[in-house]
Amino acid sequence: MESKNAKIVTCVAPVNIAVIKYWGKLDEELLIPLNDSLSGTLSTDFMRAKTTIMVSPTLQENKFWLNGKEQSFDNKRLDNCLKEIKRRANQELPILNWKLSICSENNFPTAAGLASSAAGYACLVSALAILYDIEGDISSIARRGSGSACRSMYGGWVHWCKGIKEDGLDSIAKQIAPASHWPEMRVLILVVSDGKKKYGSTEGMKRGVETSELITYRAQYVVPKRIEDISEAIKKRDFNTFAQITMQDSNQMHAICLDTYPPCVYMTNVSHAIAGLVHAYNSYKGSNKVAYTFDAGPNACLYLLEPEVEEFVSIVNYVFPPSDPQGYFQGMPLSMKDIPQDIKLSLDLERHQVGSLKSIIHTKIGEGPQIISDSTCHLLNDLGVPK
Ligand code: DP6
Repeated sequence: MESKNAKIVTCVAPVNIAVIKYWGKLDEELLIPLNDSLSGTLSTDFMRAKTTIMVSPTLQENKFWLNGKEQSFDNKRLDNCLKEIKRRANQELPILNWKLSICSENNFPTAAGLASSAAGYACLVSALAILYDIEGDISSIARRGSGSACRSMYGGWVHWCKGIKEDGLDSIAKQIAPASHWPEMRVLILVVSDGKKKYGSTEGMKRGVETSELITYRAQYVVPKRIEDISEAIKKRDFNTFAQITMQDSNQMHAICLDTYPPCVYMTNVSHAIAGLVHAYNSYKGSNKVAYTFDAGPNACLYLLEPEVEEFVSIVNYVFPPSDPQGYFQGMPLSMKDIPQDIKLSLDLERHQVGSLKSIIHTKIGEGPQIISDSTCHLLNDLGVPK
């Protein structure tokens, strides 16, 4: 039976896409990065994690469900987040000794290979912080779940400063500009049809730190200036510079992945074809109008401004024809237009195999985690069991 003391809270949290990549750890246990990173937070309207947590004296054991499946609670990263939350809580709180039910789900297909751990841990920590009345910065707690999760704790444009303290308490995220600062910014995620990831980012970056010399060079000599320059470009809304740094940084991360031994290959021929198309388009336009960035997988994340979306998505649709139009376009509405003949000729557009892309998600920059106050939205019932 539900206890009248039980506390329940539901939060949603966003995905973020880095333009200066986090790649490599200084401390594997504390998830302290080798270098600073910077990202855009995506709107929770289309891609988000949602988590309900109940804490109650009547719960017999800790339970955790993710996307409809019960998971083991014996998870080091989950445990580290919980420990850190409890350490920061008022030690007199009776709920510190009660058991928890946690239920989390993503509204975007995990099968699409899109990073879900950042949104998931940001959501978990946001909900825990409300339940246990934690004040102050909690991005360093989200970091303990997944490094990049600390950036999902804020909306807009977010800088994760690696910090200098050995305990990682100053390795935190900070918003450098809100979502409203650059309202025309749009994001297209081109989901590339491919099997499962061969090696996740945790494993890839660990092997990189062990075997790549470039990774140390990047952290020491390249990233600090890029962070400064891209922050400036964002502040000035200078898309041309923003795009160049974004693409160079994605390429450098993947260069390090190839410099890793044995190499980590994340981009496929289709990923490279997308990057090539972006460069051809930008050179036709005379300045950068689209920027690509790739995480630890083949999907392309494109940053572009609203006036460019219709033309560029029409080109993508021509070059990579969908096999099944059902559910192919997701997110904000998209319209198409005929591609002018001179673009077809100058870009030397070659059509790829039907179905090379699985879907296209159209979204924008958005806000950080939010509490859902409508109790009908809880993922758990009064007994702490998924609805
Ligand atoms: C390529 O945050 O998933 O997306 O800290 O080991 O959980 P862990 O890694 P994770 O790494 C993300 C790496 C990236 C680049 C980025 O988001 O900055």
